[in-house]
Amino acid sequence: MPSITFVQPDGTRRALEAGDEPTVMHVAIRADVAGLPAECGGQLACATCMVDVPEDWVARLPPAGPDERDMIEDTIGSVPAGRRLCCQIPVTPALDGLVLRVPATQG
Ligand code: FES
Repeated sequence: MPSITFVQPDGTRRALEAGDEPTVMHVAIRADVAGLPAECGGQLACATCMVDVPEDWVARLPPAGPDERDMIEDTIGSVPAGRRLCCQIPVTPALDGLVLRVPATQG
């Protein structure tokens, strides 16, 4: 299964092996990754699971849907390039090597 790395604002990195979790958010929650409270549990209702995807990975992920984009914009006023809700990123083998930055704040 894929290895996904979460990078904190201070540069601290945690590489996690995904198991059978349905989404990247579930991988982060299982490992108690800091800065990702994911308060709604993946219901697309909280925007506390934001991550920044590196430019070279953006096109390799399923694109954000309109509801995801609206949730981000409603929360922080814009949708920065690469900004995603990690509860909307399904875990697949293709994610192996993905590095995600956790923003300093979740809104
Ligand atoms: S966990 Fe709430 S929107 Fe992703």
